[in-house]
Amino acid sequence: MDALKNKIAEIIKNLYGVEVPVEFAAVPAEIEGDYSCNVAMRLAKAAGKAPREIAAEIIAELPAEYEYTIAGPGFINIGVSGRALFAQLDGAWNENYGYNQSGAGKVAVSEFPSTNMAKPYSVGHLRPGTQGWAAKRILEANGWKVITDNHLGDAGTPFGIWATGFKRSGKSIDEVTIYDLGEIYIQMKADMKAEAAAGEHALADAAQDWLLKLEAGDAEAKELSERFNKISLDHIHGVMKRMDLVTDYELGESFFVERGKELVKKFLAEGKFVQNEDGSVICPLDEFGIEVPMLMLKSNGAALYATTDLACLDYRLHEWKADRLIYAVGAEQKFYFEQLFAVAKKLGWNAEMQHVWFGTIDQVGEDGKREKMSSRKGVVLLEAMLDDAEKRVRENFAGTELSDEDVRRVAVGAIKYSDFIADRKTGILYDPNKIFALTGQSGPFCQYACVRMRRILEKNADFAGADFGDYDFAAEKTILRKLLEFPGLVAAIADNLEAHRVAGYCFELAQELNRYYENAPITSAEPAVKAARLWTIERAATVLERGLDLLGIQIPDKM
Ligand code: ARG
Repeated sequence: MDALKNKIAEIIKNLYGVEVPVEFAAVPAEIEGDYSCNVAMRLAKAAGKAPREIAAEIIAELPAEYEYTIAGPGFINIGVSGRALFAQLDGAWNENYGYNQSGAGKVAVSEFPSTNMAKPYSVGHLRPGTQGWAAKRILEANGWKVITDNHLGDAGTPFGIWATGFKRSGKSIDEVTIYDLGEIYIQMKADMKAEAAAGEHALADAAQDWLLKLEAGDAEAKELSERFNKISLDHIHGVMKRMDLVTDYELGESFFVERGKELVKKFLAEGKFVQNEDGSVICPLDEFGIEVPMLMLKSNGAALYATTDLACLDYRLHEWKADRLIYAVGAEQKFYFEQLFAVAKKLGWNAEMQHVWFGTIDQVGEDGKREKMSSRKGVVLLEAMLDDAEKRVRENFAGTELSDEDVRRVAVGAIKYSDFIADRKTGILYDPNKIFALTGQSGPFCQYACVRMRRILEKNADFAGADFGDYDFAAEKTILRKLLEFPGLVAAIADNLEAHRVAGYCFELAQELNRYYENAPITSAEPAVKAARLWTIERAATVLERGLDLLGIQIPDKM
């Protein structure tokens, strides 16, 4: 329909001398026409005429291949035959249908899930992974080269705390698990707090000693540190694998500590940063309307979170030559990233930087009220959520023989899809009764539509190349129209990375497909009709799969 949009824009320019964007909206089935255009209403002021009059003037100039009606206050409704829609989709179809090359030659870095070494992977890092992955796939669908990086939280004092707590626990290094390490860490933090309140510091000193030993290359400290890191990383990788997540790099905070300190020195010397009397270094940001300067280095010369992020930014921009940086990190760090991006601007680093932030994951509490997700033990571990999800999927499909891999795909699909139900800025409600349901807007609902269509196609594998005769594609119009929307949707979300719009699209398409499947018989249809219907189903299943893939959701073989 792009040609028609351009034609309308051209007519408007000739008639009224103005340039306006022309958009079409798909009209509901009960209204005459297939697309609706509200441009006449928007021109009324400039043209000094009634919208219906303007609509008539535009229609008079339009090509005869479509049907036009004026509706309501001045909508131009455009009727397109099913056959014309088929011809459009057929003409546009290729193996990359829906993707475009607008980002060709450009590099983006998408950062996720950026978990922390000291702790077991919790639901707190669910959304970073899901959203960061979708950002990657959406940009790739728009032709970008995307580098993914897990910015591990692996710097600072955790090692000293772990080592002290581990020694105290009497556990053997061969048996200690990530959960032990997590508990050791939490217990140590609590004990250190109590100790400090009592004016003592034995534990804090011990932790500090371990850090110094590590820095000095002490063999035991080195061994412990390597073991702790390995236990942490194995755990993180295991969870990511279950979630179908993987990154190209894992350059954590520690990788950037020394680089960060060097950079701070450099920008201090250049007068861009300022040293306080106590020795700490700040970057003033008043010129960006940010009153609070960013603290770049501690008074004792130690690196901060921001020190490592400064070096990381530098690395991504100058080493990886990124044109765009995506940080999939929760809303709590909004101000931090505002500051960080302002620092980058101040340094003349001009890439596009985007903090893809999101709300919390909530649950329905025992009192029926909405609350931040938690368990009796405190945080909910992502592994526990995945185990529970798989259990629910097995229950829901008790009558069907699902492979373990398909159970996992459905469980992960359900969890991921729930992340995209609404705009990411709103918190999501983790309601197992809805998330895993095969009805309503859910991941499994969309996956199931795909699996069903694939099964029909398998059973009728011989339709390829069949002749559609003069079949009118009237019953296929709604689906064809929907499929024709997909490329525009992919292009439209490249800037704001609105993955939820893809989720909404997939749900609507899956609904259409189910409706179609019920109303347009295939097996009993005569050959030309049957072939046309299978063709339509094949295109639709492909687009649905492609849409779900942008969300990181895989299709089970069977369900
Ligand atoms: N590890 C951090 C956390 O869990 C998130 C890191 C975000 N990324 C960054 N470049 N600062 O809160």
